[in-house]
Amino acid sequence: MTIAVVLVAAGRGERLGADKPKAFVELAGRTLLEHAIRRIFVVDGVTQLIIAAPASHLAETNQILESVANEFVTAAKNVSIKDLVVIAGGGTRQESISNALSVVAEATEVLLVHDAARALTPPEVFERVAQSVLETGLATIPVVPIVDTIKRISGEVVLDTVDRQTLRIAQTPQGFQAFELLEAYRVATEDFTDDSSLVQSVGATLRFVDGDSAALKITTPNDLVTAEALLAEQSELPAIYRTGVGVDVHRFTDDPAKPLFLGGVEWPGERGLDGHSDGDAVAHAIVDALLAAAGLGDIGFNFGVDRPEFAGASGQVFLTATVAKLAEAGFKVVNVSVQIIGNRPKVGPNRAATEAELSRLVEAPVTVGATTTDGLGFLGNTEGVAAVANALLIRTQVG
Ligand code: CTP
Ligand code: MG
Repeated sequence: MTIAVVLVAAGRGERLGADKPKAFVELAGRTLLEHAIRRIFVVDGVTQLIIAAPASHLAETNQILESVANEFVTAAKNVSIKDLVVIAGGGTRQESISNALSVVAEATEVLLVHDAARALTPPEVFERVAQSVLETGLATIPVVPIVDTIKRISGEVVLDTVDRQTLRIAQTPQGFQAFELLEAYRVATEDFTDDSSLVQSVGATLRFVDGDSAALKITTPNDLVTAEALLAEQSELPAIYRTGVGVDVHRFTDDPAKPLFLGGVEWPGERGLDGHSDGDAVAHAIVDALLAAAGLGDIGFNFGVDRPEFAGASGQVFLTATVAKLAEAGFKVVNVSVQIIGNRPKVGPNRAATEAELSRLVEAPVTVGATTTDGLGFLGNTEGVAAVANALLIRTQVG
C-alpha cells in the first residue's frame, strides 16, 4: 500500500493574529507544523509527505522536517516515509493543495489531505481514514458529533431546531483514491471549503469514520489554550499542577529573651524557638512543601551549610528566596495550607496576621490552622512546635 500525505501549512493564520504564519506558532515548545509532522511520521504505510508551506518559510519548513527525521532515525523509530517534499503553497487552501498534487509520486494509491492547523490529530485517525479508503475504495472523512443544540435562523428570528443526530463536524485528514482526487482537482472550477465537497461535486460517494476531539482546528488564540490542555492530557506536557508536603519541628529555647517567630511574624509574650535561624517551623515547613512540589529538593539542599548567606536567616528570607527559585523553574504558588501542631502558642489571636504575612511572602493565599496532640509527646508537653504544610503550584512555562 502506498499512501501520500499532503500537509497544508501555507495559510497566514490571520485569526490567530501571531507575528508569523500559523504553522510556525509554537505550542509547548514545538511549532504546530512539527507537532503535525511528528504524528504523520508514525502513521502506518505512509510513503510520501508533501508539505505546502508559505513561500517565505520554505527553508524553515525543510529544517523542521530534517530535524524530526534525524531525531526519528537516531531513536531507531521505524518510519516508512522515504519521500519528503516541501513546496510553496498558493493564495487559497485549494491552490496550496493543487500545488502539492503536482508532485504526488506516480504509484500512490491513497492520498490523505491534512491541515497543519489540526496539529494534534492522532495517528490513529489517519490510519482509520486510509483503511476505509483502501477497503471500500470510497472517499472518507473523519467526523465528530455535535454537542450543541443547533438552530436555523432567518434575519433576527430563530426558525427551528435542526436534528443534530443527522449532523457531523468534518475534520482532516480526508482520504481519497489518488486518481479520484487528482481528477477532481484537474476539473475543479470553483473554490470549495474542503476536499470532500470538491470530490462530491464531481459525483463521488463519501463515507465517514470516527474523528477525534484532539483533531480540533487551531484557529484562534483560545484554541491554543485548549490544545495545550489536550497535550497535557496526552502526557506530552509535564503536569500543570503539582503539590508538595513539608514538615518542620523546633524545640523551645531556654533563653527567656528570645522572641517567638512563626509564619514570619512575631508572637508577643511567647517563648522563642531554638535553631541557628529564628526557628520559624511554619516558614520552614512551607519552604519544604514549595520546594518539594517544584521538584527542587528541600530546605537543607537549597539553603544548607554551604550557603553562609542563609545562616541565621529569618523565615521571611527563606520564603522570599524560595518563591524566586520557583519563578526561575517556571512555577507560581496557587495556595498553601499549613497546620501548627502543639500546645503552645494558641494560634487564634495571631491567625489573621500570620496568614496575611505568609500570603504576602508566597504571593498566594496561605491558610493557617492548628491542632494539639491531646497532651501526648513532645508537642503535648510544650517541648516544641511542629508544622506541616501542603503547597499547590501551577506551571507558568511549558516546553
Ligand atoms: N492553508 C494553506 N494555504 C492557504 C490557506 C490555508 O495551506 N492559502 C492551510 C492552512 O495553513 C491550514 C489549513 O489550510 O493548515 C486550514 O486553513 P485555516 O485554518 O483557515 O488557516 P489559515 O488560513 O492560516 O488561518 P486564517 O484563515 O485565520 O488566516
Ligand atoms: Mg484560512
